[in-house]
Amino acid sequence: MAPRLKITILTLFPRMFEGFFTSSIMRRAVEKGTVEYRLVDFRLWATDRHRSVDDLPYGGGAGMVLMYDPLARALDELGTAGKRVIYPSPSGVLLDQSLAHELSNERELLFICGHYEGLDQRIIDEYVDDEISIGDYVITGGEVATMVIVDSVFRLIDGVISSGSLDEESFADGLLEYPQYTRSGPSCPKEVPHVLLSGHHGKIESWRLEQKLLRTMERRIDLLETASLDAVSRKKLNELKESMAKGIGENGRDESC
Ligand code: ADE
Repeated sequence: MAPRLKITILTLFPRMFEGFFTSSIMRRAVEKGTVEYRLVDFRLWATDRHRSVDDLPYGGGAGMVLMYDPLARALDELGTAGKRVIYPSPSGVLLDQSLAHELSNERELLFICGHYEGLDQRIIDEYVDDEISIGDYVITGGEVATMVIVDSVFRLIDGVISSGSLDEESFADGLLEYPQYTRSGPSCPKEVPHVLLSGHHGKIESWRLEQKLLRTMERRIDLLETASLDAVSRKKLNELKESMAKGIGENGRDESC
């Protein structure tokens, strides 16, 4: 059977991906044939005797820019038809869960890993469909950013992980996830919130919702503007806001380990 997702990665450092594709859930997806990947060192398309792939920026300035020719030749030879071509870059649109979902519907993704001061803009103009940033900070190259994007995407493909886990996790409903607890030994100095041991599913659900709302209000208030809250969540949010306004305090705060 054809793989559900084919990934091609153009990189100067293919070894950086070894652990990523051969460990954990990704390894299983590759072994099952759900994901197929190909790492391509685009230095192979350099033509001068130094195998150069970068040069000084026109107009001056620090750093080096990846040249048009080696990358264009690599892309033409590999072919881009039917592939969504992604260039991870701090100047891209921000990766979020909805973009990860959108990309998980594609059959073929091709990543171009930049380095130094990035790619010649003409490569981006001619070949790139999406320039994507993984956050408002700068890392040394596109490899780690590519792994982040690929990881956020492949796990959403049917059968890669259990759908129950996807329903419960952060951003599934636009909110952060509630805290989790499991059995611990005597070295843990704090107790588990009692409600979780009550066996009362309604109360547990209500506590978890409260924790999600409190966390989101505290850490990511911006998410509350776009979260798709159902009637129960909206009611709970209003109650929390009211009790905070009255100065009752954070009644539902997580007080355990
Ligand atoms: N390359 C360097 N920094 C990056 C970032 N924040 N996102 C994506 N690619 C990058």
